[in-house]
Amino acid sequence: MSEPTHSYILAFDTANEVITIGLGVADEADRSISAVSSVEVEARRASNTQLLPRIDALLAEQGVSKGDIVCVVCGRGPGSFTGVRIAMATAKGIASALEVPLYGVSTLDSIAWNLHDAGLRGPAVVVADAMRKEVYPVRYELVDEGIERLEADSVVKAETAAEMLAVGRGAASASADGGGVAGSSDSVVGANAPASIIAGDALKKYAELFEPCGAFADKALWTPTGKGLLRAAQEAWRANLLDPFDAAFGNPAFALPVYTRLSDAEENERIRLSKNEPKNLRTGVQNAGVRRDQQPSAHDTAIENARADESGITYRPLDAAHAHAVAELESELMGTDAWSEALVLDELPRKDRVWWAAYGTDDMLVGYAGGWIVDGQVQVLKVAVAPAQRRRGIARSLLARIASDARDLGAKACSLEVRASNEGARALYASLGFESIGTRPKYYSDREDAVIMEGPLPLDHHDVAGMELQVHGGKALRVEDGCLPVRCDAERRLDVFAAASDGRGERIEAAAPLVLAIETSCDETAAAIVDGSGQLVSDVVASQIDFHARFGGVVPEIASRKHIEAICGVADECLDVAAARIGVPRLRWRDLSAVSVTYAPGLVGALVVGVAFAKGAAWAADLPFIGVNHLEGHIYANKIATPDIEPPLVVSLVSGGHTMLVHVKAWGDYETLGSTLDDAVGEAFDKVAKAMGLGYPGGPIISKLAVEGDPGAIDFPRAMLHSGDLRFSLSGLKTAVITYLRNEEAAGREVNKADVAASFQQAVIDVQIAKAEMALKLTGAKEFCLGGGVAANPALRAAYGVMCERLGVRLTLPPMSACTDNAGMIALVALDRYREQKFFGLDADAQAHVNLDEPY
Ligand code: KG4
Ligand code: ZN
Repeated sequence: MSEPTHSYILAFDTANEVITIGLGVADEADRSISAVSSVEVEARRASNTQLLPRIDALLAEQGVSKGDIVCVVCGRGPGSFTGVRIAMATAKGIASALEVPLYGVSTLDSIAWNLHDAGLRGPAVVVADAMRKEVYPVRYELVDEGIERLEADSVVKAETAAEMLAVGRGAASASADGGGVAGSSDSVVGANAPASIIAGDALKKYAELFEPCGAFADKALWTPTGKGLLRAAQEAWRANLLDPFDAAFGNPAFALPVYTRLSDAEENERIRLSKNEPKNLRTGVQNAGVRRDQQPSAHDTAIENARADESGITYRPLDAAHAHAVAELESELMGTDAWSEALVLDELPRKDRVWWAAYGTDDMLVGYAGGWIVDGQVQVLKVAVAPAQRRRGIARSLLARIASDARDLGAKACSLEVRASNEGARALYASLGFESIGTRPKYYSDREDAVIMEGPLPLDHHDVAGMELQVHGGKALRVEDGCLPVRCDAERRLDVFAAASDGRGERIEAAAPLVLAIETSCDETAAAIVDGSGQLVSDVVASQIDFHARFGGVVPEIASRKHIEAICGVADECLDVAAARIGVPRLRWRDLSAVSVTYAPGLVGALVVGVAFAKGAAWAADLPFIGVNHLEGHIYANKIATPDIEPPLVVSLVSGGHTMLVHVKAWGDYETLGSTLDDAVGEAFDKVAKAMGLGYPGGPIISKLAVEGDPGAIDFPRAMLHSGDLRFSLSGLKTAVITYLRNEEAAGREVNKADVAASFQQAVIDVQIAKAEMALKLTGAKEFCLGGGVAANPALRAAYGVMCERLGVRLTLPPMSACTDNAGMIALVALDRYREQKFFGLDADAQAHVNLDEPY
């Protein structure tokens, strides 16, 4: 006799130092979720290793199978950024692979529910630790019917929060709005108000500070519980915000952590840009730009770092220095409804506004858009594009950026007004999923009606947070640079299917096994699927580079956020492209043979997202899970164009974070022959480009410029050329270039930038070639190949061609598109691991550093 099956809800949270898991049974009849199990364990910084094993054990203990889970509930924080991301990425992986809704609940609300269910009533405050002497305080009113949240999430100094709560003791309800992005801090003094009940893990650190603010709840009620999460979900169900049985309510792509503001880098930039001072033309923050594996170094980055897209358009947050240009375009386009410069200037410093601008050649403003985040919605205030620049997708790109920031700030929907006669704009919004919900009669000063349109956030089916998405795969990868840039918009679906038949990404036969790979180690969110013949069936990359360029380097916090925003969209796209290429209606996670992920080396906060997501999906789909070393991936990228490449071989790994010569004795058996003592090659390119005021990333810019220069013009040093070993040093070269530039400037001579670029590049190449030749002679290898971003340098590729021919060594070069980070190369490593049945456990974690020479 079999037990009747229940519909289970799996809930978890790792926003703090506690792993919390709840398992509940959902009853459609009364919309109740009854907890059958609630587990809370201390997990000091070990959430990623412990979360899935605990979930697995809990299900086993309760005799529940994964197939009985109808919905995943995840704590969104606020809390530790990494902690929240681990839960969120794991939940996205599980819900995606189980094909069930994912619903995010506020970690603080779940604590408030616990206070309520413990019988406490009256004013209450939950204060969570935000590190750096800050806390997340939220006030509630606990009444018989439930909890009333009195304000939105905010982050404030612990001392300020304590003062504010002590003063406004019990009077919290006076400022109940919950609308703003940053919670309101004003409160009314309630002289004889009842003492607040206080809970939250900030009390562990700041007990004395909060003592005067009210009565501490029992310590057991300070941190979230599985029960509390399930309770919060039940109330969301009853409020029609969630339906565990209806996938339309919980697309895993749309669940995001609670952020109380943009990343520090963006927030500092916004504040600076909103001030009308000349130096505001310079953007960026101190310590923002870091390369993989490195401590942040001081940067004063410049606006020229912002990267133009293929059409020559650059996107940056709008700054005060351009308010005048906005007003001019306004008066040209908006007639009597135009905004004045003063009005624009007044907008920029506001915390709940997001403004983006598009610039053409010579930094000319060609478009701008602004949004106001209020009540969980972003109201688009302006979208304008200069007439000569229309039909180039600028409005769409501006909207994507507004939408992406607005999502980070908690908005779930987007609304705007558009002139009834503006059919072009209405069609654009309709293509983004907006619907007309009404009109404002005679809204404009010329008495034309406004149509009110509303759409969901994100704006796209497979949202990748405003990034450019590139799709490769199938035959496309056999040709140099055979990539297919695809705009991130509603038309994209059609583009992809067109690609399947346009000869570049044509129909292919795929052989088992199918291994999916995820890569999130730096600033690319990528997914790929390889088949048993080593063919890349699908290879999708969303590059964040536009979002880092204006800071002059990769900003780790932005990278982590973009990964969590884009991971589902990228993975879904990867599965869809593969389905189209193979010619099946749909490819599901459970149709795959294994799931793999880059687990090291890289930015830990970025790696963690991919690892947690991939692990969650592998677990949910009952697939083996494979961890891959990113550097090994760069070596395997050579297999894409040259499947018969065989060890023993020598590979030169040259990227923004690495410069090394590696002896590949067999696949999986590596010996590092030498590496850099200081800067990596790509880093040297980036720093030199920066010193020359050329923008970021420097490699491609310098190599283009070098074509026109004389490589023999300036005799820059070739460090360690005769050191007799295979180590490199590049910081001296970089300094030599900077010194040269300074001296020339001091002498009043005009610098020939092309000559500098060519001479610098030649100095790099000479050493690279000499050491590679040494390595080949030392090992006797007859094959040589390259890996990493700098492998895309044409002069370097050509120089290796000459050297290898002279030595009678076969040279393999990865396709241009596979030099920079991608998941295809990770999938190829994973395929070998799959064949060897070398799998990772559910306790696997991301690592910043690993030694390539150590097998894993
Ligand atoms: O492998 P990758 O995408 O990321 C890291 O692991 O760092 O490499 C990026 C690096 C950047 O420093 C970039 O400037 C460099 O590769 N790069 C180039 C070229 N294209 C990219 N360096 C020289 N010449 C190029 N054409
Ligand atoms: Zn890389």
